[in-house]
Amino acid sequence: MRAAAASLVLVPRLALFVLLLSGSGVPTALSKSTLESCASSSACPALLSYTLYADLKLAELAALFAADPLAILAANAMDFAVPDPGDRILPAGLALRVPVPCACSDGIRKATSARYVARAGDTLASVAGSVYGGLTTADWIRDSNGMAEEEDAALDAGTTLFVPLHCACFGGADSGAPAVFLTYPVAEGDTVPAIARRFRTTGNDLMSVNDLATADVAAGDIIVVPLPACASSFPAFASDAGLAVANGTYAVTANRCVQCSCGPGNLDLFCVPAPLADSTCSSMQCSNSSMMLGNFTLLMTSAGCSVTSCSYGGYANGTILATLTTSLKPQCPGPHQFPPLMPPPTSSFFETYLGPSPTPMASEGGMGPQMAGMAPTSSPPVSSGPPTAGSHVGSDALAQVAYLCLVASLLW
Ligand SMILES: *[C@@H]1O[C@H](CO)[C@@H](O)[C@H](O)[C@H]1NC(C)=O
Ligand SMILES: *[C@@H]1O[C@H](CO)[C@@H](O)[C@H](O)[C@H]1NC(C)=O
Ligand SMILES: *[C@@H]1O[C@H](CO)[C@@H](O)[C@H](O)[C@H]1NC(C)=O
Ligand SMILES: *[C@@H]1O[C@H](CO)[C@@H](O)[C@H](O)[C@H]1NC(C)=O
Repeated sequence: MRAAAASLVLVPRLALFVLLLSGSGVPTALSKSTLESCASSSACPALLSYTLYADLKLAELAALFAADPLAILAANAMDFAVPDPGDRILPAGLALRVPVPCACSDGIRKATSARYVARAGDTLASVAGSVYGGLTTADWIRDSNGMAEEEDAALDAGTTLFVPLHCACFGGADSGAPAVFLTYPVAEGDTVPAIARRFRTTGNDLMSVNDLATADVAAGDIIVVPLPACASSFPAFASDAGLAVANGTYAVTANRCVQCSCGPGNLDLFCVPAPLADSTCSSMQCSNSSMMLGNFTLLMTSAGCSVTSCSYGGYANGTILATLTTSLKPQCPGPHQFPPLMPPPTSSFFETYLGPSPTPMASEGGMGPQMAGMAPTSSPPVSSGPPTAGSHVGSDALAQVAYLCLVASLLW
């Protein structure tokens, strides 16, 4: 599995020019998209950078992308144990990462699960550019649905469209290090150095990944951004084989029984029972041991620290694979730190302070990391540090701005 995926790195990257036509009198633009050619039939994990075009319930957002609402929260380091997550209203203008399986179809990597039921007034251009935030193009939707060239006028309400979305995996590695690739529609005013800064990578890396000859990008281009990630090494028969989690975020897997996180201290995937795990979940105990997923014991020996841990090994046939592994480290690790979680942002807050097009903020969040054993909860842990998740409720504007910077720096 991993060997097959790795060979994809060698596949030449294909930068295609896509003609964007608009039926509404908007000038025709020539946009560039990064496409990855592929041969493997297996899907790989990818992320889409999506900016909400309207206030949407999380369930509505998830439906747009045929994604699991909990998976969206987890991928954004937002508390996925909140009650009724699907009913949470997310504000227009909020930029989120949407995790999707990146399939291989017609020799090109694309996310193929999205279906959209047209509403009165929709056009192909509005569906591609607004509803799907520029993650696809009107031409691509038209071609994928066998529509005629002239169908740029209003779509018939009720028509179900298949909406292909740009994604890439590039073998799950960037310069040899595990990575998840985020599809990023270039916005007005974006530059390669600014995008690189926002995602903590370099302009050169972005140019190389996207096969850009020059550091010129324009609004409407679709590029991919490599994000450092924790890779898994589950067997190929596991349904979540190939799982990869971007640094600072979570994934929910094994039918929502297991959560895996990545970072912040190291890029070793760390999986524990998920907060919603219940009696329908199969055993998460390592056989022949009293240890549960995520538990570990330390034994100082003359050769170093012997770490025995109960690790998640994938989900196969409804069974959670839990295996005891022992490794020798020079020093005993401290308690595991989880990436900080924030509550799903609320509508009024982001409308007031973020506006429709969020700008990345330079400041770093200073929220204290959570310690091992503290699973996500609906009431965020109290921390003595700077504003914790949830502390903005009813606090003054200054605290809200600090929280906002925290949110921005966590996400990007
Ligand atoms: C992972 O994220 C943490 C916290 O943001 C950061 O300190 C660390 O450098 C990141 N690791 C990598 C490899 O990017
Ligand atoms: C379980 O533990 C016992 C005693 O420690 C050992 O003899 C046996 O080989 C172990 N079984 C497995 C499957 O590890
Ligand atoms: C072992 O893991 C379980 C599940 O995450 C946790 O509830 C328990 O506190 C852990 N035990 C120890 C000793 O860390
Ligand atoms: C899961 O089931 C399939 C057939 O249904 C079988 O071939 C496979 O070996 C099973 N995997 C595990 C890990 O039990």
